[in-house]
Amino acid sequence: MAILITGGAGYIGSHTVVELLNANKEIVVLDNLSNSSKISLERVEKITGKTVTFYEGDILDRTILQKIFSQHNIESVIHFAGLKAVGESVRKPLHYYQNNITGSITLVEEMLKANVNNLVFSSSATVYGDPEIIPITEDCKVGGTTNPYGTSKFMVERILEDTVNAYPQLSVVILRYFNPVGAHKSGLIGEDPNGIPNNLLPYISQVAVGKLPELSIFGNDYNTPDGTGVRDYIHVVDLAIGHLKALEKHQDDRGYHVYNLGTGIGYSVLDMVKAFEKVNNIKVPYKFVERRAGDIATCYSDPQKAFEKLGWKTEHNLEQMMQDTWNWQKNNPNGYQN
Ligand code: NAD
Ligand code: WQD
Repeated sequence: MAILITGGAGYIGSHTVVELLNANKEIVVLDNLSNSSKISLERVEKITGKTVTFYEGDILDRTILQKIFSQHNIESVIHFAGLKAVGESVRKPLHYYQNNITGSITLVEEMLKANVNNLVFSSSATVYGDPEIIPITEDCKVGGTTNPYGTSKFMVERILEDTVNAYPQLSVVILRYFNPVGAHKSGLIGEDPNGIPNNLLPYISQVAVGKLPELSIFGNDYNTPDGTGVRDYIHVVDLAIGHLKALEKHQDDRGYHVYNLGTGIGYSVLDMVKAFEKVNNIKVPYKFVERRAGDIATCYSDPQKAFEKLGWKTEHNLEQMMQDTWNWQKNNPNGYQN
């Protein structure tokens, strides 16, 4: 039996493939490499000493999905494939909806035809919009999304919930990630953003490595302890292990299951800059600028449900997030294009 990982060459996907291979699972990856490199999977094989079956292709392409489902005995699908740049989604909404929503529908239609009934879906804390309570629990209101990327995640969640109601043989797990950061401790795989990073930690590490002159901190007048935005940063290896736990718990466990994957701890932008500087002994110049449109003041999870039901909790602290980010960045200043 094998697990199909869509988007498995990407940042979170590649780290999850490592953890699944380490747990002796057989892995098939489908990725169109639109935001990743095949080298990540070669590095995964180096880390684990195991092999990955790779298909370069698109989740919108039924032919390749049918080929995979007919040639491999797939028991579960972990569905990472998607576009994730918030700003780009505002400029290209149809592209995002087509890729993320139509892509997910196509995948699930082909799963149903092939009688593959287990799905884990990469969702995001972004579905909570500006959260009604902090820390955020899974039953908080969803849907107040402020950009097409976030809306695509919210809509796929709804589509999957309706689909589970109509096809009760399905087991669907929705994992709402908070802010994934860090890299595998080997320094062989990590986050490799295209162009100038949108997210905080890749930006900090590119300033540290000298690729960018300074960090712009978006707002210092939020209602938070130091005025900068507060988020729940989670080490990508903890996140990856969350997928393994979700599969173990909900394999053939019919129904629709939703979990937050976060640490439950909020750090501000300044906390992050100071921690990076201290752990890695490198100065990160920064300046304060206007708030970024669409940002909220504070977002962190209540991870209790995942702890109680999946037996999952995060093991990596802020120091390890900073160390592993820098280890990846300094050894791969140009990402996978060395
Ligand atoms: P990523 O871009 O590194 O990985 C996504 C992968 O999917 C890439 O390898 C890309 O080439 C592939 N892909 C995209 N569209 C595809 C398609 N149509 N067919 C086949 N492959 C396709 O991003 P990531 O950070 O690893 O994110 C993985 C998932 O987690 C995404 O769905 C993302 O929206 C979600 N997520 C990410 C974050 C985050 O901050 N990184 C937070 C919450 C949720
Ligand atoms: C974190 C904090 C910024 C960059 C995004 C998506 C979300 C999810 C995770 C996929 C905020 C501040 C950032 C910079 C800064 N992705 N910041 N200067 O916005 O919490 O979440 O990624 O699902 O959907 O919206 O993450 O890393 O962009 O920002 O001051 O150059 O850092 O204002 O307070 P965010 P982020």
